[in-house]
Amino acid sequence: MYIAAEDRYEKISYRRCGRSGLLLPPLSLGLWHNFGDITPFGVQQEILRAAFDSGITHFDLANNYGPPYGEAERNFGRHMDCDWKPYRDELIISTKAGYDMWPGPYGDHGSRKYLMASIDQSLKRMHLDYVDIFYHHRPDPDTPIEETMGALYDIVKSGKALYAGISNYDASQTEKAAEVMEKMGMHLLIHQPNYSMFNRTIEDDLTDVVKKKGVGLIAFGPLCGGLLTDKYLNGIPADSRAAHDPRFLKAKDITEDKIAIIKRLSDIAHERGQSLAQMAVAWTLRDPVVTSALIGASRPEQVIENVRALDHAGFTEDELDAIDKVLADKSW
Ligand SMILES: NC(=O)c1ccc[n+]([C@@H]2O[C@H](COP(=O)([O-])OP(=O)(O)OC[C@H]3O[C@@H](n4cnc5c(N)ncnc54)[C@H](OP(=O)(O)O)[C@@H]3O)[C@@H](O)[C@H]2O)c1
Repeated sequence: MYIAAEDRYEKISYRRCGRSGLLLPPLSLGLWHNFGDITPFGVQQEILRAAFDSGITHFDLANNYGPPYGEAERNFGRHMDCDWKPYRDELIISTKAGYDMWPGPYGDHGSRKYLMASIDQSLKRMHLDYVDIFYHHRPDPDTPIEETMGALYDIVKSGKALYAGISNYDASQTEKAAEVMEKMGMHLLIHQPNYSMFNRTIEDDLTDVVKKKGVGLIAFGPLCGGLLTDKYLNGIPADSRAAHDPRFLKAKDITEDKIAIIKRLSDIAHERGQSLAQMAVAWTLRDPVVTSALIGASRPEQVIENVRALDHAGFTEDELDAIDKVLADKSW
C-alpha cells in the first residue's frame, strides 16, 4: 500500500491561480504521454508517486490522452483505486474535451452536446465523482462561445467539476471567454497554453489578457517534449520520446541547428549549476503570471530532477540576456 511522503508539503511553495482561492504547485504533472497502453502500469505508478511525494498535487489529463484515446483516463482510474482514494482531497485533477474523441459530429470541437457527454465519460473512466478543473481543450470558431462557456458553467454548477478552464485559446478568444463567463457570474479559473523557450507566443499579448482578467496560467510543454533537456545532445537515445513514441516529436525534426541552440542553452544552464531541463522549467516560471509549469515524465527520476529546478529558480539579468541572445539565433 502506498503511503505518501510525510514531508511532501515542505518541499515547494504553492502559487495562487489568478484571482481565485486555488493554489497550484509550481510544477504539475501531465499524463499525455506515458500513461497509455505502451507504458507498464508500475512505471506510471512510480511517476505519479514520485510527483506527489515531491509536493506535486496536480495531475492533468484529457479525454483523448493515451494511446488509445481514453486509455490515460482509464489507467488513472486504476491508479485512483490503488493509490489515490485516501488522498483525493489533496489532489487537483483536471481533464479536457475539445479534440476528436469519438466518431460522428458529436465527439469533437465545442458543442454543448460533446462537452456534456465527454465529462460523464471521463468521470466514469477515472472512477471520480468530480474533476477539479474541466477545460475546453481548443477554441472552436464554429460554435458560439456562449454555448461552449455555457456548457462549462453548467458542468461546474452540476458539481461534475469545481472550476472551468480553457486551453490553446488566443488572446482575443481568451478575453471573450472570460467575459462570457463573468456575465454568467462565474470566474474563468485558468488558461493552459503552450509555453517554453522555443515557443514564446503567449508573451505577445496572452499574458496581458490573463493578468487583466485574473485568470491563472499553466504552461504546458516547458521542455518542448524533451528537446529542452540534455538528452538529444549526442544522438537519439532508444528510450527517448523521439525514438519510442514519435507521434509528435519526430527524430527527423531534431535537426543539427536545433541541437546547436540546445547545446548553447545547456552550457548556460550548467554555468548556473543546473541541468537544461531544470533551467527550462525555472525559465517558464520566472514571471509570476505563470502559475504552474506542466511537465511530462517517462520515469520518476525525471520528476525528481525537474522539481529541483526550484532550488535555483531565480535568474540574473545577464543570464536572461544570454538566453535571449541564443534564442534570437533560432532559425525555425
Ligand atoms: N492543452 C494542450 O493542448 C496540451 C498539449 C500538450 C501537452 N499538454 C499537457 O502538458 C503535459 C506535458 O507535455 P509534455 O509531456 O510534452 O511536456 P514536456 O515537459 O515538455 O516534455 C516531457 C518529456 O520530456 C522528457 N523529460 C522530462 N524530464 C526530463 C529530464 N529531466 N531529462 C531528460 N528528459 C526529460 C520526457 O520524455 P522522454 O520520453 O524522452 O524521456 C518527458 O516525457 C502533458 O502531459 C499534458 O498534460 C497539453
